[in-house]
Formats: sequence, structure tokens, C-alpha cells
Amino acid sequence: MAEIEIKGVGKTFGAFTALHSIDLTIKDQEFVVLLGASGCGKTTLLRIIAGLDSPSKGEVWIGGRRVDKLPPRERGIAMVFQNYAVFPHLTVFENIAFGLRMQKLPQAEVTQRVTRTAELMHIEALLQRYSGQLSGGQRQRVAVARALAMEPDVILMDEPLSNLDALVWMPLGLQGHFEPLNM
Ligand SMILES: Nc1ncnc2c1ncn2[C@@H]1O[C@H](COP(=O)(O)OP(=O)(O)O)[C@@H](O)[C@H]1O
Ligand SMILES: [Mg+2]
Repeated sequence: MAEIEIKGVGKTFGAFTALHSIDLTIKDQEFVVLLGASGCGKTTLLRIIAGLDSPSKGEVWIGGRRVDKLPPRERGIAMVFQNYAVFPHLTVFENIAFGLRMQKLPQAEVTQRVTRTAELMHIEALLQRYSGQLSGGQRQRVAVARALAMEPDVILMDEPLSNLDALVWMPLGLQGHFEPLNM
């Protein structure tokens, strides 16, 4: 894990200002939830941290390194998207393994990481299914497992609870009372 520092980050889309000026420090090992009305800029900020969008002003630092000019793959980040993009033509196993294959990890390591994260997310019985044969909640768990399997420095999750019940989050140590973020 790594500390994230957002310094004076703003984002405009043409004449529209989506983010004015955000200052935020998220410490190493910290779990932070951004809560706000629909359209307030949560996804925009996550995309800027991940490098899918660039800020119009300000700086993003991760682990003491300025990253706002770096491509996403050099930021040590995994992101779970709001629409949990799982690949329909791949099995659950291969969906979770996807990023690990890109990194060309040895097969034994891939199998070990996929198995471990699938157990954590309670989807170990589904590993040979195609994602088209899953419920929305199961698909969302696959997307979270794929991010966890990468063992990134930072995991960004955009409304990851909208299809999940609290029980699934217990193994991650995220106990407590959660409200859905999709307001
Ligand atoms: N690519 C874009 N072009 C123009 N406006 C955008 C774009 N992306 C987001 N917005 C606008 O920026 C604001 C924040 O959007 P978003 O970050 O998706 O909000 P949230 O995730 O909090 O619901 C919204 O008003 C949205 O319409
Ligand atoms: Mg959003």
C-alpha cells in the first residue's frame, strides 16, 4: 500500500467545472470512502488518481512520487469500475487472472493468487463459469477479485457495494455499517 496525496486538483470539461480544488491525503493502509450526491465528482476524482483522466490543475502523488503525468500502468493502481467490466468471453478464473497474465507471472503463481482471492470473495465455486452465467453481484465480486489479485499499491473502487451485501466484505476487514453509495 502507499500514501496518496491530492494537491489542489481541479477538473473542467469545457466550460463546466466538475472539481474545483481538492486537497486530500490518504495514508498508507488507510481505507477511505468518498460519499456524495450523484454528479458531485467521485468518479472523476478516481479516474484522475488512476490516470484515466488528467487533472486540469493540481498534483497527484502516490508513495512519495508525483504521478499525474505518468500512464496508468506506472502508478501501481487497480481500479474496480462502477459498471464492473468483466469479460463475457472469459471464465471467472481467466477474468481474475487477466492482469496477472499481462504481467506474465508463472502459472503456479497465477493459480495461487486466483484461488486465494476467489475464496476471499466467496466465488471459488464459480471459477469455471463464464461471466454471462453470473448474477450482477457475482460479477461485481469477480471485478473486485481481479483487482485484489494484482496486489497493487492502491485499489480504487467506484461504488463497489451497490450489488453486494456486507457479509462479503468481512474477510477484507471492512466491517461496519455500510450504506450504498449510488445515491
Ligand atoms: N467526460 C465528461 N465530459 C463532460 N462532463 C463530464 C464528463 N465526465 C463527467 N462529467 C460531469 O462531471 C460531473 C461529475 O461527474 P462524476 O465524477 O461522474 O460524478 P459522480 O461519480 O460523483 O456521480 C457531472 O456533472 C458529470 O456530468
Ligand atoms: Mg460515479
